Amino acid sequence: MQQTITKLYKAVEQHCEGDSTGHDWWHIYRVVRLALRIGKEENANLELVEIASLLHDLDDWKLSADSGNYPNARNLLKENNFDQHTIDRVIEIVEQVSFKGAGVDTTPRCIEAKVVQDADRLDAIGAIGIARTFAYGGAKGRAIYTPDVKPQMHQSFEEYKKSGGHTINHFYEKLLLLKDRMNTETAKEIATERHKFMQLFLDQFYKEWNI
Ligand code: NI
Repeated sequence: MQQTITKLYKAVEQHCEGDSTGHDWWHIYRVVRLALRIGKEENANLELVEIASLLHDLDDWKLSADSGNYPNARNLLKENNFDQHTIDRVIEIVEQVSFKGAGVDTTPRCIEAKVVQDADRLDAIGAIGIARTFAYGGAKGRAIYTPDVKPQMHQSFEEYKKSGGHTINHFYEKLLLLKDRMNTETAKEIATERHKFMQLFLDQFYKEWNI
């Protein structure tokens, strides 16, 4: 199994080539590492955690037009001869990971999905989270900040998908909410420091803006 997983690393790295939305290979790499660390603490199935975190963004709705049935992840697993049971379990984990709006409950059901979701969300906050958020905003043509456009707490996934506000709003619509939505104790601990750093960043941002 481990040999086959190693092949997946190469394939996913190739798939991510050229990404400038903050969902590049190094995002995947950090999520895999974090997920394995959290998964160990939480006694999760580490093999499933590793595969699911490697594949978690291959069919993300933000990046892929045809994401509904997870075609990229499925194909990659089939090409690498994973058995049907493993494929089903991995897809089941991946489909529980994504954030779908401030008012949409996306609590995962199994521990492996909780772990991968936590790792992915940890990489969305803190210093790296800030860098990724502005990279994403730039790639999507969004403004850094427009003072009169207020954040929106999206109550449905459809609403959230359509949102195109400036990047500072994204902190209120998603990033600052993540600390209290971590599933595992290990992730909650890591999130505390990263959350504080984002608040510090925002304080400084407004200070400079309003000088
Ligand atoms: Ni991700």
